[in-house]
Amino acid sequence: MRIDVVSIFPDYLAPLDLSLVGKARQTGLLDLRVHDLRDWTTDRHRTVDDTPFGGGAGMVMRPDVWGRALDDVLEEGAHLIVPTPSGEPFTQRHAERLAQEQHLVLACGRYEGIDARVAEHYRSHGQVTELSIGDYVLNGGEVAALVVVEAVARLLPGVVGNPASLVEESHGAAGLLEYPVYTKPPVWDGLEVPDVLLSGHHARIARWRRDTALVRTAQRRPDLVAALDPADLDAQDLRV
Ligand code: ADE
Repeated sequence: MRIDVVSIFPDYLAPLDLSLVGKARQTGLLDLRVHDLRDWTTDRHRTVDDTPFGGGAGMVMRPDVWGRALDDVLEEGAHLIVPTPSGEPFTQRHAERLAQEQHLVLACGRYEGIDARVAEHYRSHGQVTELSIGDYVLNGGEVAALVVVEAVARLLPGVVGNPASLVEESHGAAGLLEYPVYTKPPVWDGLEVPDVLLSGHHARIARWRRDTALVRTAQRRPDLVAALDPADLDAQDLRV
């Protein structure tokens, strides 16, 4: 997969050289390119923003600079992602769909955002999705771009060493948060690992994990429980 990220702070994306995403880049599973938006400015000051029409505080990113950048970077068939607090809430379902694409381009806005005509213009050329990573406001789209790239890249075949670890995690197919996990030592600070996990009884372990996942989800994310398909619940679930 190819991913291009355009930002006025390309150094913000440096963590993408680390860990599993960094390794995926080195091995060629991921062709990730980071660009400086200012390379597409034409004035001496390398200006990317201006005051908002209609007045108000802050600055807006100019569509002409973004247009030149995206005309160069967005190839035919690429999907443009614009991180913004006013976007659709980014979920694991988006990550799964985006991981199927050949080419993503992330346009990181700063200040009060990017002139709205940019998303409108590229919608008539291809797919454009404005995504929010949560109901809070960051200083720009870079941190959100890191989130989207990591969530997508780890789903590419070969990026996570053991694909089985993707199966039971939070926000997976079961629609539940993940059950609590434990490792050695079996007693730490007077706290014991639940007996069932030491029992070697696979069916009982699976039941315990499902029960704790259900309780945890009901406590922390009642919205996810409400969204469960009753057909996916078994008689034991209903007891919990
Ligand atoms: N840019 C600023 N805040 C953001 C958010 N919550 N999600 C995505 N992009 C953003």
